[in-house]
Formats: sequence, structure tokens, C-alpha cells
Amino acid sequence: MSLAPVLTVDGPSGAGKSSVCRLLAERLGWHFLDSGALYRVLALRARAEGIGEDDTTALAACAAALRPEFEFQPGEELARVSLDGQPLGEGLRSEDTGALASRLAAVPPVRQALLAAQRAQRREPGLVADGRDMGSTVFPDATLKIFLEASPVQRAERRHKQLIAKGLDASLPVLVAQIQERDERDARRQASPLRPAPDAFRIDSSALTLSQVVDRIWGLLQERMSQRDQDPD
Ligand code: DC
Repeated sequence: MSLAPVLTVDGPSGAGKSSVCRLLAERLGWHFLDSGALYRVLALRARAEGIGEDDTTALAACAAALRPEFEFQPGEELARVSLDGQPLGEGLRSEDTGALASRLAAVPPVRQALLAAQRAQRREPGLVADGRDMGSTVFPDATLKIFLEASPVQRAERRHKQLIAKGLDASLPVLVAQIQERDERDARRQASPLRPAPDAFRIDSSALTLSQVVDRIWGLLQERMSQRDQDPD
């Protein structure tokens, strides 16, 4: 029996992955895996428990025990996440949490500990998986792999707009520097570095609207799904 289809969307932070994935998951009626949120939940939990960044054994145990709950509201881009029944709130999506998540994500036993939870999300009728290594490591047999990119300045501008819209203070040059630092760390690490899978389609979203990106991926996916129907093995 063949496994449920998976669409993977990887790429650096701020390339538009979350918006693209949410829209596609809604249009397809598929499940959605926000793998970055798993690393962010781990960052919050590790910080709350005072686990040191170099205590890899405790970090991996903490990662393996995490059971976050995701709730998607129609029209909302990001999931509401709770841990042990407690909503995690804005802290989950902050730059600080993202930076710590990126540092913890470089620890191989942490990545290993989160692998099973990510793969368990693959269910009928299908899964849209958003992250850094969805196509390269977590779902190497994905139906379609996308690597979504955009220039660092463009990505920082998008992030800046999101923060301003939330009424938060944000400096564009600081955001550009933070985004570059995080991408470099994600790309440099030994374990599952941020890198397109060899069979991924690369899309640069810098000069495209959200619906253009969604339509392009939708078209590619329809082709793949019809090939899959003709040749299910
Ligand atoms: O997508 P995000 O900003 O929520 O991800 C936060 C960090 O988690 C990111 O900088 C690197 C890490 N991450 C990862 O290493 N692998 C993933 N599949 C998803 C996120």
C-alpha cells in the first residue's frame, strides 16, 4: 500500500513558506506540518526548564517528550500551539525564540528525537510539510519537493511588515542581520543543513505574489499526482 502523498516546502526563514503552505493545505484539504514550530516549542521548554544549550542528552530527552497540540483557524497563517494544555502565545514566534530554536536544531540528537513525531503526521489524504529539511531528510520520498527562496532584504522587509502590523517595534537593518545569521547557522550545521534536496524545484519568490507562488506549486503538484495515479509504485 502506498503512503499518503507529501508536498515538502523548505527554504530560509521569511521566504513565504508558512503562507504558501497554509493556502495549499487548505486548498488541498491536506494536513499541515509546521516543523519550525516543533523546534520553537522545544526552545521555550528548554529555556523554562533551564536546560543548557550544550546538554545534548537533556535536550534530546526534552524533544522526545514534547507533545505540542496545533490548532489551525481558517484564515490564520500560523497555528495556535499549546503545550500540556497551556497556550504558548506570542513568545513562540519571537525572533529570540527563532534564534534559540535554530541553535538547538543544530544538535543531531535533537533532530533525531523529533523525526518520529514529524513522520507520524503523514496521513491521508496528504501532508504539506514546511521546514528546512522536509524534502532532504524527513520525507525523502515526497511526492513533490519545493525549495522556496527570496533575497535576505526582501525576507527582512516581509518580517518587518508583520511585526509592525502587530504593533511591535522593529528595525529593518537589525532584522536583515538576524535573518542572515540564522540562515548561515541553519545552512552550516552538520545535521540536515538547510540545502535544497537534489530533486527539489527551486522557486524564488522575490518577484512573485503569494498567489503566483501557490499557483505554480499547485500546477507542479497536479502533474505529480496524476503521474502517481498512473504509476502508483
Ligand atoms: O521556520 P521557523 O522560523 O519557525 O524555524 C525556527 C528554526 O528551527 C529555524 O531557524 C531552524 C529550525 N528548523 C530546522 O532546523 N528544521 C526544520 N525542519 C524547521 C526548523
